[in-house]
Amino acid sequence: MGGMGGSAISGDVVRDVFNGVDFSIETIREYDLPRYARPEDTLFVAISYSGNTEETLSIFDQALERGLNIISITSGGRLAEISRQKGLPLITIPSGYPPRGALGWLFGALVMVLERAGLLEGVADSLHKTARFLKDIAGELEGEDTISIDFANKFYRRLPIIYVPSDMMSVALRWQAQINENAKQLAHINVLPEMNHNEINGIKHPADIVERSWVVFLKDRDTHPRILKRIEITRQIIEEDVLGADEVESRGESRMERIFYLIWLGDFVSYYLAVYNGEDPIAIPRISHLKDALKREG
Ligand code: PA5
Repeated sequence: MGGMGGSAISGDVVRDVFNGVDFSIETIREYDLPRYARPEDTLFVAISYSGNTEETLSIFDQALERGLNIISITSGGRLAEISRQKGLPLITIPSGYPPRGALGWLFGALVMVLERAGLLEGVADSLHKTARFLKDIAGELEGEDTISIDFANKFYRRLPIIYVPSDMMSVALRWQAQINENAKQLAHINVLPEMNHNEINGIKHPADIVERSWVVFLKDRDTHPRILKRIEITRQIIEEDVLGADEVESRGESRMERIFYLIWLGDFVSYYLAVYNGEDPIAIPRISHLKDALKREG
């Protein structure tokens, strides 16, 4: 997959939901295609919600030059135009959302592509079940006295730190990106077990920042038992230095439901945090400014 930001995350979520498959799912957030991508064993999916992201268009051009099998997913823009001109497979999704608000469309399109390519099975059924599950659970995440409000309160005027098992990296990335883009706030993330071999030692200084940090460990019922043990011990070790630490376990039946439960929780937290910060959760003025400036400079 080639994409950036709110589009690229869909590739990471696919990788984490289907973590038992026997092929590799990689998201390239870059101008350049890796040299190992070859036509005989690569399906290249260009994902850009707007269809105009320069890094994605650059890597898409390189995939064309290299003769890879290409499919594009977009709501329009240059990516749709070029794909149509060249007669390449194209999936168009509805426009008018912020890219990060189109995760369901992007993820759904991507897994359907992988199913059509014969790489996944039973996808439509899982998508329907997950959508129903999220609808049923929405009331528990939205509004007063919810876990979402609780975390927004804990993160307000503090540094949120999110730790996840490495097979759920997409969830941490999504929490971070949503807190950054919706709430206009910094957040730090890392994965276990790796952070046990370095970062755990660093949770001391600068003391004024560490003391104002709130840590959340996200986990799943299928998380490796040794990682669950590591979470327990890590929490005990750092609890005195940080302001607070919590653990949240995913909910739902399938892995798709459980990953999306945690993603949705983070989405709601970031929304309420935006409200507390007095920020418009939809606006992304700095990202737009940067893209405009780059366009002007040519
Ligand atoms: O959330 C956002 O608006 C950004 O992260 C965009 O997704 C990112 O800049 C890439 O744009 P696009 O998703 O249109 O390719």
